[in-house]
Amino acid sequence: MITLGIETSCDETAAAVIRDGRILSNVVSSSVPLHEKYGGVIPEIASRFHVEYINQVTKRTLRKARKTFGDLDLIAVTDSPGLPGSLLVGTSFAKALGYSLGIPVIGINHLHAHLYSNFLIKKVPSIQFPFIGAVASGGHTNIFVFRSFKEFETIGKTKDDAIGEAFDKVAKIIGVGYPGGPKIEKYARRFIARSPIRFPRAYLEKDSFDFSLSGVKTAVLYYIKDRKLSKHEISRISWSFQEAVFDVLIERIVKACKKFRIKDILLGGGVISNMRLRTKLKRVSGRLGYRLFYPPPALCVDNAAMVAGLGEMLFQKSH
Ligand code: KG4
Ligand code: ZN
Repeated sequence: MITLGIETSCDETAAAVIRDGRILSNVVSSSVPLHEKYGGVIPEIASRFHVEYINQVTKRTLRKARKTFGDLDLIAVTDSPGLPGSLLVGTSFAKALGYSLGIPVIGINHLHAHLYSNFLIKKVPSIQFPFIGAVASGGHTNIFVFRSFKEFETIGKTKDDAIGEAFDKVAKIIGVGYPGGPKIEKYARRFIARSPIRFPRAYLEKDSFDFSLSGVKTAVLYYIKDRKLSKHEISRISWSFQEAVFDVLIERIVKACKKFRIKDILLGGGVISNMRLRTKLKRVSGRLGYRLFYPPPALCVDNAAMVAGLGEMLFQKSH
């Protein structure tokens, strides 16, 4: 079966072709440079970018996969969650294409697709259901229990900013550029962790799996007030901010594994490409005997291969 995936939920216009769970092509065109001067995604700019590029991104992915429109059996498209104007471009495009080709179109949840990226990697030991899924991106921070891709429960989410969003905002505060995640990671890597700043960790209520990132963000804002930001100081803030955020995320994931007696953890979303987070999580899960799965960086960020993969699997299960 050959499936075309379409992803336009935020600032990436993406299309991919999958054949029976194997990626044939995966093309992403990003409007990130257009948002750079604002320090965050401007929805109207993102939607216009999708309108402009969706045709050529789709044609390019088909060319790369050496397929034509006539070879397609299914179209999978992200239909939630995301920026409404951006989602509308992808879903309208997919529906029109599906109608003209006479093939089915399946709507896909973007967060579930991020976790499905883990199933697209070759050579991983088979993932066991149920698993704990953690998605950390620019728009979402969610912890799930997945019993199957049709039976799942959201057990925690953020009450204010998503983790990636907090990275972007803190990067703006300390003036290191956009998108904030990779910039903060780069500065943090240069820090020799001798005298980190103890930024607050918002663990919220004892039984909660939710997140709140406004406290740590405000703490950074207060910290830099009347302070000269040398390169060393920026590295120190970057390291300390990263640690504060990741400590809470890891505590949530471990608590979920313990409560639901689950040993498999699947990660997804742009923030998961952070090497420090991976190292910390690997250490903890190794110690506790959990199995940790995360996609390579190209499949952590928004892409359409994950959408096509999940769409194909769900379609095959229901037919
Ligand atoms: O999944 P994604 O590409 O798009 C959304 O669905 O939002 O995630 C983008 C987010 C941005 O906020 C970006 O700053 C963050 O992921 N990000 C990172 C890293 N790379 C990207 N955050 C922390 N460390 C990174 N290395
Ligand atoms: Zn995403």
